Amino acid sequence: VSRVAVLLPAGGSGTRMGGACKPLLDLAGETILSRCMRPFLDRADVEWLVVALPAAALEEPPAWLPADPRVRLVKGGPERMASVRLALEAVPDEADVIVVHDAARPLVTADVIDRCIAAAAAGRSVLAAVPVTDTIQEIDDGGAVVATPDRSRLRAAQTPQAFPAGVLRDAHARAALGEEIATDDAGLVSRFGGRVHVVDGSPANIKITTPVDLLLAEAILADRR
Ligand code: CTP
Ligand code: MG
Repeated sequence: VSRVAVLLPAGGSGTRMGGACKPLLDLAGETILSRCMRPFLDRADVEWLVVALPAAALEEPPAWLPADPRVRLVKGGPERMASVRLALEAVPDEADVIVVHDAARPLVTADVIDRCIAAAAAGRSVLAAVPVTDTIQEIDDGGAVVATPDRSRLRAAQTPQAFPAGVLRDAHARAALGEEIATDDAGLVSRFGGRVHVVDGSPANIKITTPVDLLLAEAILADRR
């Protein structure tokens, strides 16, 4: 059985939410961060869960954080990638699968997590993804359409993203040497030539980004109850 570490980057400033640290916001009676942690802490194979928090939140860790010995808190960095790297540094060498999950995706379900971890335990780097429903237009600087990619080949990337530990560690070590910027870890591994596969995510596994996403998330939770 694999020994799994989970990294939850929660160090952002929520600019598109009007400047709120999104993971600390309440969503239908429970914080977004706590909703992100629970389905991972429910798994016996998860031995470490590292949360990267903004410096201010780390000074006074919220009382509602699960009192679970597997949880570690670290300070986030200026970019998501830096927050992931700082969380990665807190993972012991014994971990053989590392999962990264946005602390802004509180609706993630056990089945999606399970698909990601099972694939990584079998040696694959994977991300949860869903087919795009809108047609995507590539434009130039003047706003003119230059290409309409075949939608059947497009997937919207979500998290969780799961990796054999060495693959993720190598990618971050290489990224630390240069200017390499990717918006997520699957993108980073892929940028350095690693093979990354998609597994089925869920349309309900939305990222809370703008205020309207909170309304959507409340509706999805109400439907689950
Ligand atoms: N994140 C992080 N450290 C950063 C930036 C982002 O840990 N320096 C985390 C966020 O807290 C979030 C996840 O990465 O859980 C996805 O990022 P995003 O949705 O972009 O959140 P924010 O960066 O906080 O929001 P915005 O981009 O609107 O400022
Ligand atoms: Mg951001």
